Amino acid sequence: MKNLLFLVLISICWAEHTGNYTLERDRIIHIQENGPRLLVESEQTKVFSHRGGNITLPCKFYREHASAGSGKIRIKWTKLTSDYLKEVDVFVAMGLHQKSYGNYQGRVFLKKSSENDASLVIIDITLEDYGRYKCEVIEGLEDDTAVVSLDLQGVVFPYFPRFGRYHLNFHEAQQACLDQDSVIASFDQLYDAWRSGLDWCNAGWLNDGSVQYPITKPREPCGGKNTVPGVRNYGFWDKAKSRYDVFCFTSNFNGRFYYLIHPTKLTYDEAVQACLKDGSQIAKVGQIFAAWKLLGYDRCDAGWLADGSVRYPISRPRRRCSPDEAAVRFVGFPDKKHKLYGVYCFRAYN
Ligand SMILES: *[C@@H]1O[C@H](CO)[C@@H](O)[C@H](O)[C@H]1NC(C)=O
Ligand SMILES: *[C@@H]1O[C@H](CO)[C@@H](O)[C@H](O)[C@H]1NC(C)=O
Repeated sequence: MKNLLFLVLISICWAEHTGNYTLERDRIIHIQENGPRLLVESEQTKVFSHRGGNITLPCKFYREHASAGSGKIRIKWTKLTSDYLKEVDVFVAMGLHQKSYGNYQGRVFLKKSSENDASLVIIDITLEDYGRYKCEVIEGLEDDTAVVSLDLQGVVFPYFPRFGRYHLNFHEAQQACLDQDSVIASFDQLYDAWRSGLDWCNAGWLNDGSVQYPITKPREPCGGKNTVPGVRNYGFWDKAKSRYDVFCFTSNFNGRFYYLIHPTKLTYDEAVQACLKDGSQIAKVGQIFAAWKLLGYDRCDAGWLADGSVRYPISRPRRRCSPDEAAVRFVGFPDKKHKLYGVYCFRAYN
């Protein structure tokens, strides 16, 4: 799968940087024998940020006859979907006219550090901003593009809801992640998580519609004992009818995640109320993972979370907590009336 993606990437780059012609969707644009008159480049192919951050997607254009440039320059930024099949409008500018689209409205503008700068600034980055962006510059009949990836710092976690394993179709999987303050993960995010040690023996949806799972310690029930470690690919499944778990991705949050100090153990309903009374909300699963991974949060007390699960985050493995590994330990989805657990709360900062 990784190789396949890699090849797709290579072929996109090749198509965009061959001197003679440029493939663009289903058109072939021929450029004069003496080479392109307009060249678009990005000094970085990947930029790195986190939720809530600001970032510049670099892009510059060069014209053969810059001084003679009579035609108006049009700059267009689009986002490529995870399957590379579509483009979503982000921003266009022509002279003084500028327009941004969808939830990019009010969050994107041109950096304009020089005459030939087409770099785009995105502020207050969201989880959905992750992905590949295309910078396109058009002058008259000339047209060239460059692609920049926006990567986010964060954490991937496997997820299944209260009804149990293998219950989510693709659309429900997307929603399940959103409900836990996260988004469905990309293959690259799962691959990075696998490289940092994620091992999970249940297949989950990814944002390109594929179903995969990461194995670092090959064993019999997870694809076989004598196999190489890797991200195992089940392939693409019917998004409406097939049911799996999901891999979610979340990044930094702007708020406080904490274990509520309370004199007694709580039922689920009492846990929800206790956080409200403390000026917060019961925490979501994405928040416990972000606090654990990004802030090193460590607490050996099992607590309720918003989806009715009970978990606790361990950064410093120790006896009776999580002896072998740093992990968010999963106790289960207990009966909501059981008065056996504490609660994790989350207070958003504004
Ligand atoms: C561009 O491609 C055409 C057709 O393949 C070829 O005939 C031509 O020589 C090429 N021009 C340059 C400058 O490479
Ligand atoms: C991002 O940019 C906005 C607008 O320029 C600014 O108000 C905000 O403080 C910046 N945020 C960060 C995290 O730098």
